[in-house]
Amino acid sequence: MNNNLIIKNARIITPLGTSALKGKEMNQLLDLTGGTVKVTDGVITYAGPSRPTCEEPEEGYEILDAEGRVLLPGFIDSHTHLVFGGYRPEEFIWRMNGESYMSIMQRGGGIVNTVHATREATPEELKCKAEWFIDVMSRMGVTTVEGKSGYGLDRDTELKQLEVMRSINLSPQRKVDIAATFLGAHALPPEYQGRADEYIDFLIHEMLPLVREKQLAENCDIFCEQGVFTVAQSRRLLQAAQELGLGAKIHADEIVSFGGAELAGEIKALSADHLLHASDTGIRAMAENKVVATLLPLTAFTLREPYARGRDMIDSGCAVALATDLNPGSCCSGSIPLTFALACLYMHLTLEEAITAMTLNGAAALGYAHRTGSIEVGKQGDFVLLDTDTPAVLVYYTGMNSVQHTIKGGRILF
Ligand code: NIG
Ligand code: FE
Repeated sequence: MNNNLIIKNARIITPLGTSALKGKEMNQLLDLTGGTVKVTDGVITYAGPSRPTCEEPEEGYEILDAEGRVLLPGFIDSHTHLVFGGYRPEEFIWRMNGESYMSIMQRGGGIVNTVHATREATPEELKCKAEWFIDVMSRMGVTTVEGKSGYGLDRDTELKQLEVMRSINLSPQRKVDIAATFLGAHALPPEYQGRADEYIDFLIHEMLPLVREKQLAENCDIFCEQGVFTVAQSRRLLQAAQELGLGAKIHADEIVSFGGAELAGEIKALSADHLLHASDTGIRAMAENKVVATLLPLTAFTLREPYARGRDMIDSGCAVALATDLNPGSCCSGSIPLTFALACLYMHLTLEEAITAMTLNGAAALGYAHRTGSIEVGKQGDFVLLDTDTPAVLVYYTGMNSVQHTIKGGRILF
C-alpha cells in the first residue's frame, strides 16, 4: 500500500489552524494557485508553492498532476448515525402526508423501530450496511465521519454498534476514519418507560465506565428535546461523561426551543447539533464558550422544518460546522453536495464559510482539529480534488458530485 504521494499543480484552498474558526475567520481561506502537496507515510510533509525538488519524480512516491484543479481538505461529516438495522421508508411517506417526526415517535415508531431492528441484526450485517454508506460518502469526498450508537439502548446492542465502528477503523483498507460517539440517550428504551431518570443512572453508572474502559467512544451525545430527555438529565449525563474524559455533544433545539444550546455553552460542549430553534441566548452561549454549532440542513429539508440560523450564528461569532445527520429516520441521506447547496442557499453561508464548516470546523466538532481538517504540514494526507479549477462547483453543480478524486492518508481511493 503506497501512502507516499505528491500532488502538483493544484489550486490549494484550505482553512488554516488546529482549532475551529469562529465568525469572520471562517471566510479566511488560503487560496494558492500552482501548489504542491507532499504526503509521506500518510502525513502531509509539504504544502505550499511548487518547488522544483517536489516536481521531480521521487522514488516511492506516486505523482498526481492536478492540472490546476481545486484541492481541498477531505470533508469531515461530524454528525451521522451510520450503523443501524432495518430501514424506515414508510415514515417518509407518512411525513409527506402531513404527519410529524415527533408524532410518529410518540406512537411508538421512529427511533425505537430502528432499535428493534438493530438489536436483531448481526455485527456483520451492521458492518456491511455501514460500509455501503461509507463507500457512497467517500466518493463525495468524506475522509472522516462520525458514527453514533443509540439504536441499541441496552448494554449489548450499544456495545455491538460501537464495536462495528471499531472493526471498520482497524482495517488498513478503510476509506474513512470513524469518530465513535456514545448516544445511549437517543430515546427512552421501552423497558424504561416512565423511568427516564433511572435510565440516565444506568447510562452513567454502567454504560459510560464500560465504554470508557473499552475505549469504544471518544464523545457522548444525548437527544435533549421536549418529550425525550430534559435539560437536567442532559446536564447530568454529559457532565458524567466529561468527568471520564469524553467530549460532550448535544442534539439541541431540533424540534422546539428547549435550552439545549444554552446548556452546551454552560458545560462547554464540543458541539451542539441541529439548532433549528436555538434562541438568541443559546447562540450567544455557544459563541462565548467555543461550542461548535453543527448545522444539519438535510434534516431540516427532509422534515420540512425551517433551517437553522447559520448566518446569524456566524455573525454572532459562532464556529459553525456542517454535517449530514445520515440516519434511517429523519434524514436518510449523506449527500455532501446537497448539504453545501442548502447551507449556501438557505442558511446564507458564503462558499468559503461552508468549506470551513465542512472541513476544519467539522474536525473541531470531533476533537480532531489537530490532525485533520486542513492542508498543513503534520496533518493527515486527506484531500478532495474537485474536477474543475473553481470551488463554485460545490454549489453550482447543485446536488451533483464535483469530486474527481478522494484521497485518504495519501492513498487515492477514487
Ligand atoms: O439527529 N433526532 C434525533 N436523532 C436523529 C434521528 C434518528 C432517527 O430518527 O432514527 C436526528 O435527527
Ligand atoms: Fe442526529
